[in-house]
Amino acid sequence: MPAEKMRLFVASIGLLLTTGIASSQPQPAPDDAAIVAKGYQLFNDTSLSGGGNFSCASCHFSTGHTNNKTYVGLDVVADGDPNGRSTPTLWGAGERSVYGWGGTAPTLEESIRGIIVNRMKGAEPSKETLGALAAYVRSLRYPTNWQLKEDGTPFPVATSAVKHGFELFIGEAGCGTCHVLPNLDKPNRDDIGTGGRFKVPSLRAVASTAPYFHDGRTASLRDAVKFMWEVYAKKMDTGHVPTDAELDDLVAYVGAL
Ligand code: HEC
Ligand code: HEC
Repeated sequence: MPAEKMRLFVASIGLLLTTGIASSQPQPAPDDAAIVAKGYQLFNDTSLSGGGNFSCASCHFSTGHTNNKTYVGLDVVADGDPNGRSTPTLWGAGERSVYGWGGTAPTLEESIRGIIVNRMKGAEPSKETLGALAAYVRSLRYPTNWQLKEDGTPFPVATSAVKHGFELFIGEAGCGTCHVLPNLDKPNRDDIGTGGRFKVPSLRAVASTAPYFHDGRTASLRDAVKFMWEVYAKKMDTGHVPTDAELDDLVAYVGAL
């Protein structure tokens, strides 16, 4: 399957999973349901943007997932453009430590306000608008996987690849020192040699969020994981370069998150 088609395919599977299987995770109380519904409406409302052509759903779909594109402002740029920012998924965003690749927005509301005013060139949003949009985003859960518990650790029935990948993740590969369970992120920013200090992003649903890193420089999850392993091995001077089999297992675990 060509890469673009594969991406769409993976995104639509993810879509089925969030609407279908994610129901084991907490749902909004009935009192909040009206605010979430209002937020969903605003999320699809192009009048939030200055030019009247863009809604949140233009880049995050109505489901809040990523459209897998890289932007400067409202313009799509080539993946890897140093000024570009890859669109993150909003699945699970309610639980993140900080927002934006730069990690500069401490709350969901501030992050959304900045996007409306700066990226979308829209009018200053009211408190009600921000509250409803944030409520909708908080209602979006990442898909669950039959192999992993909600805290990100494997169930006994998980494949041996996923179990071994998890051991590498929290052990020798060093991933767990930065991507901390259960959300797989961290509030601090880090310079891992990608051109500046960026937040440690959550790895939830990462199998369907390509391209990877702040500027979308890496197309495949395997290459992103390999790069990160090498960063840690160099930083800690472990001298442990991953074998193909180790990389397969680590990708199996990360891809199940
Ligand atoms: C033109 C495409 C585009 C539009 C329109 C857009 N976003 Fe985004 N969104 C992005 C990109 C790109 C980022 C990453 C920006 C950054 O880190 O500098 C982002 C980041 C976010 C984040 C931070 C997520 C995180 O984990 O760091 C939230 C929340 C968000 N968007 C919500 C919204 C909402 C709500 C709207 C509508 C009001 C919206 N976005 C409209 C592209 C878009
Ligand atoms: C020193 C802290 C640190 C360690 C250790 C670390 N990471 Fe990361 N990781 C980061 C930061 C910071 C970024 C974002 C960098 C950027 O966007 O330019 C990132 C980004 C990623 C991404 C891209 C996510 C996306 O949405 O684009 C993946 C995948 C990833 N890391 C997996 C791993 C794996 C697997 C390991 C272990 C082999 C690991 N990381 C170890 C800090 C770390």
